[in-house]
Amino acid sequence: MAKVPTSRLDKLLSSMGYGSRNEIARLAKVGGVTLDGEDLTDATKRIPVTPDLPTRMEIDGEPLDPVAGMVILLNKPLGMTCSHKEDGALVYDILPDRWRRRDPAISTIGRLDKQTSGLLLLTDDGDLLHRVISPKRHVKKVYRAKLARPLNGTEGDLFASGQMMLEGEDKPLSPAQLEVISETEALLSVTEGRYHQVRRMFAAVGNHVEELHRERLGGLALPADLAPGQWKLLSPEEIVAIFQ
Ligand code: URA
Repeated sequence: MAKVPTSRLDKLLSSMGYGSRNEIARLAKVGGVTLDGEDLTDATKRIPVTPDLPTRMEIDGEPLDPVAGMVILLNKPLGMTCSHKEDGALVYDILPDRWRRRDPAISTIGRLDKQTSGLLLLTDDGDLLHRVISPKRHVKKVYRAKLARPLNGTEGDLFASGQMMLEGEDKPLSPAQLEVISETEALLSVTEGRYHQVRRMFAAVGNHVEELHRERLGGLALPADLAPGQWKLLSPEEIVAIFQ
């Protein structure tokens, strides 16, 4: 059987953003940390770090946040940037404040432009992040694009050709699928994540993307009941579904 990892309580909670080790020690001393209903007053004690810890441990009366390996699905609103350090509104502002202090840090899995909305994943699991964005995995991303001008009917074949070149690049795009919804609206499925890819693909055929929304990523769809700015944690089954 695999050995259960253990951690000092102060080190674990501090790496989860709950405060400095001194702050955790003080909180534990006054009964602010419980495990299976019992006060853990000595923050230097080692505890087993099992995935069920959030159902057994409470901090100030609230369930512990997920331990390492969390994946968050956010319905990204327009106007927020996928960056840790740019000016203005950042997607991280939506999440609980202490999550900014987690180590390992939570990062977006790929990026959506400031003016793109929809399904965005974030994680503290670096391996998972790299597997999702790796071009070798061909994880499909489906975007709904609203266009400034009517489609002319030739776009689908070019996008699917595997020959399409974007300006300033020397490698053709992998085949992408276009599903026409109306003269000025389409779903585009791509497996790469090049810079401004969807906007540049439509620009290359003389059009202009006015609105862009990501509806799907791999086997995950943006839940209909998740409003812009809302997020949920993915279950282990949903994490597996990313690659299906
Ligand atoms: N393609 C774009 O042009 N923008 C995005 O945000 C995502 C894909």
